[in-house]
Amino acid sequence: MKKIAIITGAAKGIGKAIAERMYAENYITILVDVDVENGNKLAEQLGENAHYFNCDIRNEKAVEELFQTVIKKFNRLDALVNNAGIIKDNVIWKMPTEDFDAVIDINLKGTWLMCKNAASIMKNQQNGRIVNITSRAWLGNPGQSNYSASKAGVVGLTRVLALELGKYGVLVNAIAPGLIDTPLTQKLSLDVQQKLIQAQPTKSMGKPKDIANAVVFLCDDKTQFITGQTIYVDGGKSIGAGI
Ligand SMILES: NC(=O)c1ccc[n+]([C@@H]2O[C@H](COP(=O)([O-])OP(=O)(O)OC[C@H]3O[C@@H](n4cnc5c(N)ncnc54)[C@H](O)[C@@H]3O)[C@@H](O)[C@H]2O)c1
Repeated sequence: MKKIAIITGAAKGIGKAIAERMYAENYITILVDVDVENGNKLAEQLGENAHYFNCDIRNEKAVEELFQTVIKKFNRLDALVNNAGIIKDNVIWKMPTEDFDAVIDINLKGTWLMCKNAASIMKNQQNGRIVNITSRAWLGNPGQSNYSASKAGVVGLTRVLALELGKYGVLVNAIAPGLIDTPLTQKLSLDVQQKLIQAQPTKSMGKPKDIANAVVFLCDDKTQFITGQTIYVDGGKSIGAGI
């Protein structure tokens, strides 16, 4: 029987790589994104077991409808990958409150709404995997008071859900990507990109598929007994004394 996976922010970047990899792993792949053009394009490219849903994860009603539709059609949910996220960087004294709200609403509240809907389904079926894409920025990064707070929130959320859902056979983990080559990081100037690459132990950017590989590992039936963890996929950037 094919497993069912929902991936948010699946139209491009890391989410697209996760969707492609999960599709290749034989999942019925539900692509959730607000980018209608790229979402539909990817679903078409992947094939008949990929389905695109235009759903803004901030919208509680839209998220509920998404889960109702998925359950009506497939009657189960094996994996939820919360990947959708945005950045709106600035030092706090220049950051408009709207930019704080926008980042928290998508990265944290949207992820929470998706988890809430998945949790009751997975709890009832006594099985499931949730993988939340956080960022190593949750450790704290100047200019990202909104983003770091949202991603630290995702780490906290992941740990709570691991505690709440463990006895129902549901494993919940987070992945903290470091610098990954996607449309999000391509918005940075080449100069900034080079500086960030030079600060990496590996002197390289990661690829979206590096995150996709970690997601597939965490969702695999063979992977048991790992829950509540944050796995760093960051070329070693989060280790060392930084001296
Ligand atoms: N790229 C990196 O270096 C990096 C590093 C650490 C963490 N991350 C995290 O990885 C995730 C993916 O990042 P990316 O670089 O692929 O970003 P991206 O901008 O390339 O893709 C994000 C996708 O999310 C979608 N999205 C945005 N708001 C949405 C909403 N309200 N509802 C549904 N979909 C929405 C966008 O349309 C887009 O397709 C994000 O959570 C990001 O914070 C990225």
